[in-house]
Parts: sequence; C-alpha cells; structure tokens
Amino acid sequence: MTDRKYIIVGNWKMNLNVSEASILVHRLHQKIKIHRGVDIVLAPPLIDIQPLSLEIDRRQFKLAAQDAYYKDNGAYTGQVSFTMLRDLVSYCIVGHSERKIYFNETLEDVREKVSAAIRNDIIPIICIGETKLERNSGETKTVINDQLTTAIANLTSHEIQNVILTYEPVWAISTFDGEIAKPKDIEQAIGFMRLTIEHLYGKVVAENVRIIYGGSVDENNAGLFLDIDGCDGALVGSASLNYYKFSEIIEKASQIYLKRSKK
Ligand code: 13P
Repeated sequence: MTDRKYIIVGNWKMNLNVSEASILVHRLHQKIKIHRGVDIVLAPPLIDIQPLSLEIDRRQFKLAAQDAYYKDNGAYTGQVSFTMLRDLVSYCIVGHSERKIYFNETLEDVREKVSAAIRNDIIPIICIGETKLERNSGETKTVINDQLTTAIANLTSHEIQNVILTYEPVWAISTFDGEIAKPKDIEQAIGFMRLTIEHLYGKVVAENVRIIYGGSVDENNAGLFLDIDGCDGALVGSASLNYYKFSEIIEKASQIYLKRSKK
C-alpha cells in the first residue's frame, strides 16, 4: 500500500455557462462531503473560473483550467497564460487528446505547457493516450513512451512527483468511440508509464507519482477502474456534468481508498 491519495478530476470541456456552472457547483457542495483520501478537482471552461473561484469551498474542491498558453504574456491574441491563472487554479489539464486532434497541439507544445505550469506553481494534469489505429497497429507502448518522455523532458525528480499523469486512450473517450477499456489494458498502460518514470527518475520517485485513468468513467463502472492496481483516480468527462453521477464516482473512490488503507 502506498499513501498516494486518489484524485478525481471533472473535465467539463466546452459545457456550462457561468450561471449553469454556479448551479452545478452549488449542488456539488450540497451532495459531496470532504473525503480524507480523495482530492476533488473541477475543470470548468475558462470563463467560469473566475466566478467559481469566489464560490467554491477550497477545502472541498480545487479548480483546474482545461488548457493555457505557455508564454507568460505578450502579443498572442486570444490566449490566456498560466501566469494569469496562477492565483485562480491549482491544476491545469495539459495535452488533452481533443487539443491534439482539433487544435493541432504537438508534443513539443505539451512539453512547453508542462514547464510553464510548473514555473507558475500550477500542477499539470498531463494526458497520454493512443488512438484506436495506433493500438491496432501495436504501437500503444511507443506512443505512450513518446508522449510521456517528451512531456516531462524538462522536469527534475522533485517536479515530476507533483504532476498528475493520465492514461486516457482516445478510443475510450465517450465522444470519440466510447469503447469501454478493459481493466487489464489500463493496468498494463499505467504500469508501463510508472516503469518509464522509474527508468528516468528511480523507484522511489515512480512510486510517488499519481497516475489516473480517463475514458467513459461513470458512476456504474468507476469502482472497476479505481480498483485497478496502480490507478490513483479518474479524469471524468460527461459524467462530471451531472452532480449525482460525479458524487457517486467520488464516493466509490473514497470507499476504495479506505479499503486499501486498511490492508
Ligand atoms: P468521457 O468521460 O466523456 O469519456 O471524457 C473523458 C475525457 O476526455 C476527460 O478528459
């Protein structure tokens, strides 16, 4: 048993305007207790972050941005930097597959964003995962290795222990193919990611890094995913827009954390 806490992240993607976001947060406050073994993170659209930062109970929830630009400031029309977000959020999702697929984000962009997040005291939640085509061509490990090693290339062993790594296969995301991943496949991918960290930074560091799973996690299957050996939480998309579903996922994480800590 390691003492890594669970972390459950709700990625709202491009959903919920300011008043809708406020209603969801109000319901989450009513429904979700503070759980000792579970960090709860909400990643609303950028425009909701400032108002929500005044509404949330920070003992209960932390905020994350879904993306930010790696330059600190300057003539970059339309962009918002990690520097601007540092007082508002604790985390930022970096390298989500939707950014890679729809906005041509490269692995080098991801590496720059990870560095910018760390420089601004924001914890990056780094997304790693293969497409269906890559999996079918037997390239899963190569893709994971490339994405992971590029993303963390600039990090010291102290810095890497603070990041959150996410295994999120593109084919398992509900709005792509939404295939339900097999726990065995997830365990292998997470194990491979931890081994990659071990080769680069040593066993102690690798044991401290939290690695979570994302892809069609909901209130019915969360227990199955969160029980996977080495899995420290979930990055939840559509189910995080529903306060009942999201709170059930957190309840599951809390139950499994308690079960594990008794071992
Ligand atoms: P779903 O939970 O809707 O599959 O989304 C996963 C995801 O992309 C979270 O970042």
